[in-house]
Amino acid sequence: MRDVKPVKVVLLGAGTVGSQVARVFLEQSAEFESRSGRPLELVGIAVRDLEKERPGIDKALLTNDPMGLVTRGDIDIVVEVIGGLEPARGLILAAVKHGASVVTANKALLAEYGDVIFRAAEASGVDVYYEAAVAGAIPIIRPLRESLVGDEITAVTGIVNGTTNYILEQMTSHGVAYGDVLLEAQKLGYAEADPTADVEGFDAAAKAAILASLAFHSQVRLTDVSREGITSVTDGDIAAAADMDCVVKLLARCELSESGTISIGVHPTMISNKHPLAGINGAQNAIFIESRYAGELMFMGPGAGGAPTASAVLGDVVTAARNRVRGTFAPGGSAYLTRGITPAQEERSRYFVSLLVDDEPGVLAQVAAVFAGRGVSLQAVRQGEDASGLARLNVVTHVARNGDVVQTIADLEQLSRVHAGIKIMRVEGA
Ligand code: NAP
Ligand code: HSE
Repeated sequence: MRDVKPVKVVLLGAGTVGSQVARVFLEQSAEFESRSGRPLELVGIAVRDLEKERPGIDKALLTNDPMGLVTRGDIDIVVEVIGGLEPARGLILAAVKHGASVVTANKALLAEYGDVIFRAAEASGVDVYYEAAVAGAIPIIRPLRESLVGDEITAVTGIVNGTTNYILEQMTSHGVAYGDVLLEAQKLGYAEADPTADVEGFDAAAKAAILASLAFHSQVRLTDVSREGITSVTDGDIAAAADMDCVVKLLARCELSESGTISIGVHPTMISNKHPLAGINGAQNAIFIESRYAGELMFMGPGAGGAPTASAVLGDVVTAARNRVRGTFAPGGSAYLTRGITPAQEERSRYFVSLLVDDEPGVLAQVAAVFAGRGVSLQAVRQGEDASGLARLNVVTHVARNGDVVQTIADLEQLSRVHAGIKIMRVEGA
């Protein structure tokens, strides 16, 4: 006779993502049984506020005691969509200790404690799946963890935050003010509970750390990622980018240096319209991978929002259930190397530098001499007028060492004919 013991699942969190996980779980339960080999039963949902209206969710499943739920002892899969470091970390470690597999969408937690969680799961012989932690619905963790594990990845470049991509696109295409678009992104369920994580680049940096750890088989943490958000991006930057046939995107870039260290950063970047990432708009995300044998690959799709993220979460739930039914589990991480992190000043990129100068003979030559003095080669220089009567110089460099560009800016700031407020941004693509 067929063993019909159900796979017992608990859900921690029923917010933007969790509420959609619960809804789709119920809608698809017959399919999930066929796909995993046993019925999947949602036996509890932990939330903070028991009084909140939660359409479609059976109140009898709700509890505000998540620890009680994960330590019941009979749970097969714990789905963590609370977010943040605590209590999520303690709950996941307790779940693993009690023999449950874990599915999480929590990039902030994995970028900080991924190695600890993977080790604990390995010791308990359970799964940790986290497809939704990077780029919402897009399958990218599994391709890196499994499909590309026979290749050698050299660089990963991504638009991995839907909120900021939505804001930048609205500012670029519709001239909408930054604050108004952020409110809209929050209403649409793209933004983190504290949207500072999105607009200051912390969310993208956490995702970059997770991608780099998998791609380069070495543990990378949030604190290893050099980070800038989009709050300083102005209409002027967007117009200057358009003038160069580029758009401004918040790019996460992870690259292996020639010496084998990992260069990793999240920065607003001017990217050529010819690059495939330039056309990724709204809350869409995309990850562009360069590898030794497969060459270039791009993964794109919805990067944020309840239902798309629930798709990735439930893919993991069914996979973990299949493993459970077959009595097996998969490794969470693949960090068997210890690579260094390239120091920020050694990072290499092309740069856009914009400065206001006196509109006088000899100024351009003086500015060019400062770049040359620091060994920074210029690719293009454009001069325009500024409303103040000064001249606006927009310079694009060839690939340069970050430390040399920073020194160049410091030198330029000493020139009496260069005015305060020098702007600098990275440039990618043709
Ligand atoms: P959210 O809307 O703020 O939902 C958080 C949920 O967790 C709420 O239901 C909340 O309960 C519950 N919660 C918070 N603290 C709790 C506690 N101490 N005990 C029990 N329950 C608690 O967050 P979200 O947008 O769904 O994001 C959840 C996770 O998914 C985060 O890690 C986020 O980074 C990740 N993620 C989000 C998206 C997205 O598009 N939103 C996409 C990919 C990944 P109440 O309902 O009672 O307040
Ligand atoms: N706040 C995140 C974003 C959610 O905007 O991309 C998806 O991780």
